[in-house]
Amino acid sequence: MAESAEIILDGKSYPFPVIEGTEHEKAIDIAKLRDLTGYVTLDSGYKNTGATKSAITFLDGEEGILRYRGYPIEQLAEQSSFIEVAYLLIYGKLPTQAELDDFSHQITKHTLVHEDVRKIFDGFPSAAHPMAILSSLICSLTAFYPESVAPDLSKEEIDLNVIRLMAKISTIAAWTYKNNMGHPLNYPRNDLDYCSNFLYMMFSFPTEKYEIDTRIVSALNKLLILHADHEQNCSTSTVRLVGSANASLYGSVSAGINALWGPLHGGANQEVLEMLQAIQRDGGDTSKFIAKAKDKNDSFRLMGFGHRVYKNFDPRAKIIKKAADEVLAALGIDDPLLKIAQELEQAALTDQYFIERKLYPNVDFYSGIIYRAIGIPTEMFTVMFALGRLPGWIAQWKEMRENKEPIGRPRQIYTGETERNYVAIDQR
Ligand code: MLT
Repeated sequence: MAESAEIILDGKSYPFPVIEGTEHEKAIDIAKLRDLTGYVTLDSGYKNTGATKSAITFLDGEEGILRYRGYPIEQLAEQSSFIEVAYLLIYGKLPTQAELDDFSHQITKHTLVHEDVRKIFDGFPSAAHPMAILSSLICSLTAFYPESVAPDLSKEEIDLNVIRLMAKISTIAAWTYKNNMGHPLNYPRNDLDYCSNFLYMMFSFPTEKYEIDTRIVSALNKLLILHADHEQNCSTSTVRLVGSANASLYGSVSAGINALWGPLHGGANQEVLEMLQAIQRDGGDTSKFIAKAKDKNDSFRLMGFGHRVYKNFDPRAKIIKKAADEVLAALGIDDPLLKIAQELEQAALTDQYFIERKLYPNVDFYSGIIYRAIGIPTEMFTVMFALGRLPGWIAQWKEMRENKEPIGRPRQIYTGETERNYVAIDQR
């Protein structure tokens, strides 16, 4: 590996250190570039910019590798639980049984939200998108725990905010759905594990006994694990950037929720399902839509295909596709949308046009199908993504704080007018 990189500007050479990560990713450290040369780098969309050093998630886009704290996503999805993975991401190691029991117990104890949070729901229109309510209410926790905004919280105080957030997001998320449906809100049950409790709050009614379906609980655990972190994606970068101003954990995560809502990010899973439904309404001829997707002059876009960093396949999509097949078979669901999805998938995997452009189905393509199979409505898909991504956001926020990273403040290349004199309105 090169030990340093040389940048030659106006005939003068400047050496810059090269740094290497534990998985041999290499970077040119240009921290001193502007001071030494007066130049900055320009990298729209940060396609080549490492914004931080991080020890949380490793991703190799060429090889389709994803590991949380070194553990392969395939092993975690198959053998772990969402709460264990949350602990791993946030605290950097797999918990002992006693640590896991304590972590789960703490979360369970904090799932109730202040009754005044419940009242805030009354102020939202019943048709409000659940992501709008989720981001607002997560931010509102700063008002209920004002001490959380202090920049110098102790480890114990941070841990308490972490537990509160992990616990309360599931109650708030389930309530956004109940509010939307006009159903009575269900209070959390402390006798249930995290995923079962969430499903109970979503789907139970005071008028009938709710049976927990372990197949659905296990599918949900898997989905949440697969979404739990994805290094410096748009919402995580948002959380780190907002947090770098010493904003509270709740405020930073609320900003991340808004970033995630965008259809180019987490909102894509909702868009996929809506696309499949539109194809179905049109008669279900997938070849017509494949042709539209290839037509430069057609505005139709295939949602859920390709990925910014995975160049050959998304390892999460492989796991989720298998899980989707299993869940649908186990629940005996024959979903016509799945047939449409399978036809699109086949076309994308065999058609040169898609192969050359590396447009293979990604995690969003299949997650909606499982969510639909387990009864989660389309508008809640991105909320489910947020629920899964929370441990990653927390871990990244915590790491940023612990490493005492400076406030994020990019530079720019100004392309506007040069200096000119103000002209009074009657003389323009
Ligand atoms: C994610 O999981 O955050 C998405 O795949 C987007 C990304 O990583 O850029």
